[in-house]
Amino acid sequence: MKRTRLADILSSKKVGDHFVVMGWVRTRRDSKGGFSFIEINDGSCLKNLQIIADKRLSNYGDEIVKIQTGCSIRASGALFHSPGKGQDVELHAEEIQVLGWADPDTYPLQKKRHSFEFLRSIAHLRPRTNTFGAVARIRSAMSLAIHTFFQERRFFYLHTPIITGNDCEGAGELFKVTTFDLGHVPRDGEDVDFKKDFFGRPANLTVSGQLEAEVYAMALGDVYTFGPTFRAENSNTSRHLAEFWMVEPEMAFCDLEGDIELAESFLKYIFAHLLENCHEDMAFFNRFIDSTVIETLEGVLSKGFERLTYTEAIEILAKAERKFQFPVAWGNDLQSEHERYLCEEVFQRPIILVDYPRQIKPFYMKLNGDQKTVRAMDLLVPRVGEIIGGSQREDDYETLLTRIREAGLNPDDYWWYLELRKFGTAPHAGFGLGFERLIQFVTGLSNIRDVIPFPRTPGNVSF
Ligand code: 4AD
Ligand code: MG
Repeated sequence: MKRTRLADILSSKKVGDHFVVMGWVRTRRDSKGGFSFIEINDGSCLKNLQIIADKRLSNYGDEIVKIQTGCSIRASGALFHSPGKGQDVELHAEEIQVLGWADPDTYPLQKKRHSFEFLRSIAHLRPRTNTFGAVARIRSAMSLAIHTFFQERRFFYLHTPIITGNDCEGAGELFKVTTFDLGHVPRDGEDVDFKKDFFGRPANLTVSGQLEAEVYAMALGDVYTFGPTFRAENSNTSRHLAEFWMVEPEMAFCDLEGDIELAESFLKYIFAHLLENCHEDMAFFNRFIDSTVIETLEGVLSKGFERLTYTEAIEILAKAERKFQFPVAWGNDLQSEHERYLCEEVFQRPIILVDYPRQIKPFYMKLNGDQKTVRAMDLLVPRVGEIIGGSQREDDYETLLTRIREAGLNPDDYWWYLELRKFGTAPHAGFGLGFERLIQFVTGLSNIRDVIPFPRTPGNVSF
């Protein structure tokens, strides 16, 4: 089934050449002059290809005039300059074959605009719309840029386990992994007898690859992970998924300053890649979803990020004239309304907050000399809020042990992680970028369910 992708035809515009194309029909209209215009899209780019089907084609009356939105077809013919508006070139078909019909009475994607809610209910068909096709291409382009950025800097791509026995963030938001028959769970007195389970102990889906990434950073120097992570947070918001993708670089011999520098150059690199390589899709988002996305990315490239401490942020928030739903006080975690106020109203650009109170951050973050704050950094962007969370890691054995206990975790579960601090410990740091939040930021899409192919959220695991 040899074919040429539309992206190649439409970018090279080789008028006179002969092509075979295959794709799904977006529209068909018939002209009085005895021919039809068929627009197809094959997913390789946003634009459609216009095909001219003349009534002299042998299946014109039987098939071509019955072609509807959603059908898949194969067409061959020569490329011509198009006299019409909206396209430079068009294909004059010598042959059109219908590969698959789509009944117009039941095919849900008719030409009109559909709501994002409705499209979520047809996640198997929504990639055929302009928006979801563009999201899928942007995810792919961003993935390449992420790998290229790290590989060019001699970071090694590390595959960390999906099933683990630890809770990296210590928040207890774990999906359990078990082969128990849930109707007959073996018990040892009151407790579940995990010795009889598949792994002989409780296991869960990973919330982060960080702890394992630290192991490899303490051997290979600089590594990164890029994979799915899972959180059983029962938060039905536009920024939370139960399954999301995270990019986690980890660097040995690195402090918080180096970590922040990496995060800044990383984001600038992938944004520049996007603006250079995804013109068509980015112009689409800028036109139909959020008219500020391109300008915002260009702003990041030229102006960079504002930096301040958590304590400074609290001072600004405490003085704000605005009323917040959640109270502002030193020691409280920042809520999305606070983050957005700082980014969107006070600084009007992305900000990096450092040195958070120890009690609101995970056990692995390095304690500052003040004993009150940790070497954490969160990178916040307008509209989305936190897209990156990172820190310098606690590299002192005793302090780490105290912090693990303080978090209510069992040090025995972290014996290997603790040992890294016994044998050749060194300053090291890293961060996690939420890939879907990044895609929200660059596309302007407001709901995280619309930037991942098949969203998993509380109550929803369809498709
Ligand atoms: O801030 P988090 O929890 O940090 C970590 O997991 C660290 N272990 C990372 C590290 O230092 N290696 O998560 C990192 C990022 C957040 O900033 C956010 O962008 C994203 O992951 N994130 C989510 N994205 C979608 N749905 C959720 N439920 C998310 N939770 C976190
Ligand atoms: Mg965080």
